[in-house]
Amino acid sequence: MRPDGLIVGKALGGGLLPVSALVGTAELMDVFEPGSHGSTFGGNPLAARVALEALRVIEDEGLVARSAALGAHLLARLRGLGSLPGREVRGRGLWVGVDLDPARVSARQVVRALAGRGLLSKDTHETVIRFAPPLTIERSALDWGIDVFADVLHGFEAQRQHGAVRLGAARRPAPAPVPRAAVQAPRERTRLMMSAPDFFEVNYRINPWMEPERWRLSAPRLAADARSGWTRLKAAYERLGAVVEVQAPAHGLPDMVFTANAAMVLDRKVLLAQFACAERRGEEAQNRAFFEALRARGAVDEIVAPPRGLYFEGAGDAHWDAVRRLVWVGHGQRSRREMQYEISEIYAVPTVALELVDPRFYHLDTCLCLLAGGEVIYYPPAFSASARAQLHELVDRDILIKAGDDDAHHLAVNSVCLARDVVLCHASGALRAILTERGYRPHVVPLDSFNRSGEAANCLTIRLELQTRPRAGELLFVEDDASELRAA
Ligand code: ARG
Repeated sequence: MRPDGLIVGKALGGGLLPVSALVGTAELMDVFEPGSHGSTFGGNPLAARVALEALRVIEDEGLVARSAALGAHLLARLRGLGSLPGREVRGRGLWVGVDLDPARVSARQVVRALAGRGLLSKDTHETVIRFAPPLTIERSALDWGIDVFADVLHGFEAQRQHGAVRLGAARRPAPAPVPRAAVQAPRERTRLMMSAPDFFEVNYRINPWMEPERWRLSAPRLAADARSGWTRLKAAYERLGAVVEVQAPAHGLPDMVFTANAAMVLDRKVLLAQFACAERRGEEAQNRAFFEALRARGAVDEIVAPPRGLYFEGAGDAHWDAVRRLVWVGHGQRSRREMQYEISEIYAVPTVALELVDPRFYHLDTCLCLLAGGEVIYYPPAFSASARAQLHELVDRDILIKAGDDDAHHLAVNSVCLARDVVLCHASGALRAILTERGYRPHVVPLDSFNRSGEAANCLTIRLELQTRPRAGELLFVEDDASELRAA
């Protein structure tokens, strides 16, 4: 549901000034003419400046995405506390309530004990403890708070059962497991879009991998090799249960084969690409026509395009993270950073912008790959320091996997993960071992001809079926809302 108007306050003042505001649709706001509504402090210049600055900080520091990702972690850990005297844990982002069983412990008692241990929280409605940490909180501080909470609850439980107070002596519970739910067989069948390589060649240079002169030296052999690599890749996806929709290729558009750049598709809504490279702009009309046909068939619902002038190269630069419930957006090479706000608005999801600094890794999918169980493979040198910091903060250390130079330079990171299967064009022994140890099955399909265009498995496909809302029975651990949990 999308309200016509929202009243916002508190955080808008940045902790400095009491400021509130009404945010609404143009239709609603245009009811007022200038001067038609008097208000003593309305439009106060200092307050307005503070509010704008607070909004800028929220955007710059990616606080909405932090809240989503750390909130998922907080909920998972609280729910993992198991048989403590809690009846329900619910929340959205870093705004979480734990409903306690009043027959076992009172919320007020717990809040007092927590304060004694240095953790401030608030009891509401007698049985609920509300946690509302600052959105800038570090993960380590959050984990400390959860440990203290668990410890205090254990203490009350022990006291109730044995009449002995053991505050602080309780065994520290193991952290909740990383959500593995996404690894369960997805309900919706995987739908991929590919485009046949009939006209694929390297005859211009828009990234450092592309060498038209070298391609020309053995063009017929390379074209034949591209055809067989593409056919094997498609067969591999089909063997793994995917349905592949094939887009007709067009003469003179050699890079059209890289369908990851056609659009991003989420919740049956297509956000078309707007290419930064003039050489690829001819693909835009082809893509629109293809998705219009899909819509006519009822396979997607809506087609939208970025505002003019905002470059966006589709799923190559925008990855839906089903575990953290946010979209990672690559920028700095092809797509524009502002696309993070467009994506956030269009799909109503948090986004995190990651700046790419190496021209060889010009799309996010060349240096970042999300696995279904929450692991993230990345190639650190491709990212700016602040992008690396974001990744470290939002992804647990033990599931943030560094790709080595060998894998990155063979475009192995540009892979596709379908549940437990990972399709890639190359895998070093080390990468293979990591994948296998984590329960994935690597499938290597060599794509040498495409590598000459700077591309591999992921660029040759786009997912059409991804949904931001889990369906019943899926993603149990990362629900952010108790009613969904019950529905499951
Ligand atoms: N030669 C193409 C280009 O430079 C390759 C596109 C690869 N696509 C991707 N999603 N990384 O645009």
